[in-house]
Amino acid sequence: MIKRCLFPAAGYGTRFLPATKATPKEMLPVLTKPLIQYGVEEALEAGIDTMAIVTGRGKRAIEDHFDVSYELEHQIKGTEKEHYLTEIRDVITKCTFSYTRQIEMKGLGHAILTGETLIGPEPFAVILADDLCDNTSEANGVLSQMTKLYKKYKCSIVAIEEVPKDETNKYGVISGEQIEEGIYQVDDMVEKPDPKDAPSNLAIIGRYILTPDIFDIIRDTKPGKGGEIQITDALLLQAKQGKVIAYKFKGERFDCGSIDGFVKATNYFYKKQKTK
Ligand code: UTP
Repeated sequence: MIKRCLFPAAGYGTRFLPATKATPKEMLPVLTKPLIQYGVEEALEAGIDTMAIVTGRGKRAIEDHFDVSYELEHQIKGTEKEHYLTEIRDVITKCTFSYTRQIEMKGLGHAILTGETLIGPEPFAVILADDLCDNTSEANGVLSQMTKLYKKYKCSIVAIEEVPKDETNKYGVISGEQIEEGIYQVDDMVEKPDPKDAPSNLAIIGRYILTPDIFDIIRDTKPGKGGEIQITDALLLQAKQGKVIAYKFKGERFDCGSIDGFVKATNYFYKKQKTK
C-alpha cells in the first residue's frame, strides 16, 4: 500500500566536516556500504521499490551510486572481485530512483515538502539515512514493521525510541496515551525540548509514514526551532486531529549523523560481519 519512500538528503552534514565538504553525508560508509544504501535496502525489504531522493548542491555522488558504472563493470567482470558489486547491482535492478533538489536548506519539513513533486497524493514513507537501523532476529526492518502498522491505523506514524532524559534536546519528543503495547496515540510533540520541558523521553527517530495532507500542512508551517521548517510542527497539527501514532520499533538504531553514533554503528556491523 505504501509504494514510495522519500529520502531527505540535502542537509550540510556539518558535524562531519571536512569529510562532508565534497562528499554527501549519506555516502559515508559503514564498513563498505554508504548510509543511504542501507536505507534503500530497508525500504525494499518493506516492499517499496520507488525511491524519491531530495538532494542538494554537491550531492551528485548519490545519483552515481545508484547507477551503473560501465567502466567498473567492464574492469571487474569475470574476476574474483565481481561479487563486491552483487548487492548494489541487486538494488539498482529492483528499484527506480527519482531526484529533486532542495535549493535552500530550510529544514527537514521543507525538504519533505520539496519531495512532494516525486510523491504525489498518496501515503509515503520517509527514511533519514543518517539514522541507521538494523533488525533484531525476531523482527523485520523498522520500515517493514511500520508499513504493517499503517494497514491497520491508516494515519501518520512516527518511529520512537526511549532516550536518556538529558538527550531530549537532540530529538522531536512526543507524548500520548498507549493504545497497544508500544503504540501511542500522539497528543503532543515538541522539537528538541530542554529536558525540563520535554513531555516524555520518547524521541522520534528518522522513520516516518506520512499521509499526503502533510504537504498542505507544511506549506502553512512557519519556521520553528533554529529558524527551520520543522516536520515536528506540521505533525503536531495532524496529532491534534488524532491522526498520528508513535511506534516503539524493534531493532537497533544508530545516530550516524553524530561521530559517536557512527563509530558505534561501525563497530556493531563489523562484529556482526565477523560472527557471520
Ligand atoms: P540534520 O539535522 O542531521 O542536519 O538533518 P544535517 O545538515 O544533515 O547535519 P548537521 O546537523 O549539519 O551535521 C536531518 C535530516 O534531514 C535532512 C538531512 O539531509 C538529514 O537526512 N535535511 C535537513 C534536508 O534534507 N534538508 C534540510 O534543509 C535539513
